[in-house]
Amino acid sequence: MGKNKLSRFADNERFENVFQPDYFTTRDQGFALKGRWAPDFFKNELPLSLELGCGKGDYTIGLARKDRNFNYVGVDVKGARFWRGAKTAIEEGLDHVAFLRIRIDQIANYFAPEDKINQIWITFPDPQPREGKEKKRLTSPQFLERYRLICNPDTVVNLKTDDRPLYEYTMQVVKEQGLQLLEHSDDVYAQMPKEHPVASIQTFYEKMWLEMGKKIHLVSFKLFP
Ligand SMILES: C[S@@+](CC[C@H](N)C(=O)[O-])C[C@H]1O[C@@H](n2cnc3c(N)ncnc32)[C@H](O)[C@@H]1O
Repeated sequence: MGKNKLSRFADNERFENVFQPDYFTTRDQGFALKGRWAPDFFKNELPLSLELGCGKGDYTIGLARKDRNFNYVGVDVKGARFWRGAKTAIEEGLDHVAFLRIRIDQIANYFAPEDKINQIWITFPDPQPREGKEKKRLTSPQFLERYRLICNPDTVVNLKTDDRPLYEYTMQVVKEQGLQLLEHSDDVYAQMPKEHPVASIQTFYEKMWLEMGKKIHLVSFKLFP
């Protein structure tokens, strides 16, 4: 393993805004912040904004800089990536930001409806294009069911992707499940106002896709029918 990665792992161990729970400990003893993120960690009563597959945490940090009316948790299985976001949050005094290293499949062990999750951002997820892999897509009916265990009737899900088939698949899931479609665009930068968060914050992967000339797509919908 590279020296850089090792030093990032060491940083993550001591960063107060990073949580790296052990799967088996959580399974046997539960996770203390589940349902209690705001009062016990953030020391406030704000609702929560989640970013799933947050990578370096660019979107989490971008939103946190713009709007202090939420707490923000970036979730990813790769701690060396979100080290960047965690360090930035500390340097900038963004004490309403945290990062959680878990598999998203396990999300219901770490949050509860009491966490008042207002919005979920899914930013440039792996599209899982192969037939038979649909249930691994983060907007599949199986994942939406997991999110429903921890969310509220008002929760909004936002998908940002460069992948046209994933965009169309998600639009289809929204339709089939009778969910309310709030916003959609197959070309965010041509169609949405520049000040809109969706057009004004760019992630690491998004910048790469834009440089390659790809179009960015958005689907925003209510999680519950
Ligand atoms: C293509 S990257 C996008 C990262 C970031 N959102 C961006 O736009 O720059 C997808 C991210 O999702 C994470 N990921 C994929 N499947 C996951 C899972 N089941 N649980 C947790 N993280 C996952 C990967 O580790 C990776 O960082």
